[in-house]
Amino acid sequence: HIIDLRATQILDSRGRPTLSVTLTLAGGATGWAGVPSGASTGSKEAVELRDGDMSRYGGAGVTKAAAGITGSIFHRLKGRPWHSLADVDQALIELDGTAAKSRLGGNATVGVSMATARAVAASQGQQLWEFLTPYTVRPRLPVPHFNLVSGGLHASNQLDFQEFMIAPIGAPSMAEAVRAGAEIYAVLHGNLAAAGRPTGQGDDGGLAPDFTHPREVLAALVEAIDGAGYTPGLDQVAIALDPAASRFRRGDGAYQVADERLSTLELIELYEELAADYPIWSIEDGLAEDDTEGWRQLTDRLGERLQLVGDDVFVTNPTVIEQGIAARIANAALIKVDQVGTVTETLQAMEVCRKHDYARMVSHRAGETVDDFIAELAVASGCGQFKSGAPARGERVIKYNRLMHIAAQRPDLPYGLGEG
Ligand code: PGA
Ligand code: ZN
Repeated sequence: HIIDLRATQILDSRGRPTLSVTLTLAGGATGWAGVPSGASTGSKEAVELRDGDMSRYGGAGVTKAAAGITGSIFHRLKGRPWHSLADVDQALIELDGTAAKSRLGGNATVGVSMATARAVAASQGQQLWEFLTPYTVRPRLPVPHFNLVSGGLHASNQLDFQEFMIAPIGAPSMAEAVRAGAEIYAVLHGNLAAAGRPTGQGDDGGLAPDFTHPREVLAALVEAIDGAGYTPGLDQVAIALDPAASRFRRGDGAYQVADERLSTLELIELYEELAADYPIWSIEDGLAEDDTEGWRQLTDRLGERLQLVGDDVFVTNPTVIEQGIAARIANAALIKVDQVGTVTETLQAMEVCRKHDYARMVSHRAGETVDDFIAELAVASGCGQFKSGAPARGERVIKYNRLMHIAAQRPDLPYGLGEG
């Protein structure tokens, strides 16, 4: 039984309003959730309910979403016996009644869903990751993909690609992977400062230097990996990109990268060249979400050699992912709980991927709180891949730190990509 449900408007890491949700079960177990929020969103994501009152927070307030939680959602959930998280999530889906959760807001439903998961885990004396692990899955500590350089919508520099990440695939343990990330970040910071370049940060803590071409960043990353005493390489410290290409596609279909306008084919060729020159193992949102034919070409051409992750194009939605798989688009999916709006649908999305041998990477959003839910989800899913921004800033490192705590408590859990 759910006996109490509270929602408060708080701030996320970008200084925008988001929801804090606390749920209490009969017996006293409670669960808390802080709701993440994207800057660069896919068009089919669950809709965030925002107040639209331009005199407060530029219209971004979430007091209506909070009122929906303490009003109609609590009214629906209280005083009934719930058998599972899936039942609660189904009730939220039905109460909302829209395809994109636009009535209650995906931010409201995901907050309640996450808080419910935490409360139920607590009531059963389980760690959240233990509670979330499906019985068909072996939990695992994921390879962290640290964002070291930001561009696109996440920074105000001239870089078109949004995220340049490093992945310590060859690290012997979670703790050593985090050490590699932090040491390489520090060397990159030092190198940029020594070159007189800006060392300010983007939304997720990645550095935002005044580079313009992706090649400049990739060269700086390899130099920093070397400089920190690690080996750049596909099975050592590899590089992953999230160009977030929907953001630099122009109305006429061309992609604007640095000072060049590229066709879809030319952009695919650029990725091919970059992957030949640098140890890039994964590219997320390499093309825009509506460039379906391009995605097919990209997958045909590079899908054997590279992980191609769908974020905007899949939006963690099991149905959209099924369609993408049928269309032979990408070979992996980014997983963000707030994109679909409940934990149960997130788990379903991951199960669809697993069944079709699509890899999964659990991900943060540009706007985060100190909630470390996604670290637990990454371990529980056994997916082997995780991204939570830079190895710096509280709302990012709390997730990596949680992974190190789990690793310390459970030395039996394997670290690494696994079978994917
Ligand atoms: P977002 O960025 O939260 O702005 O969507 C993360 C990503 O694109 O992967
Ligand atoms: Zn992305």
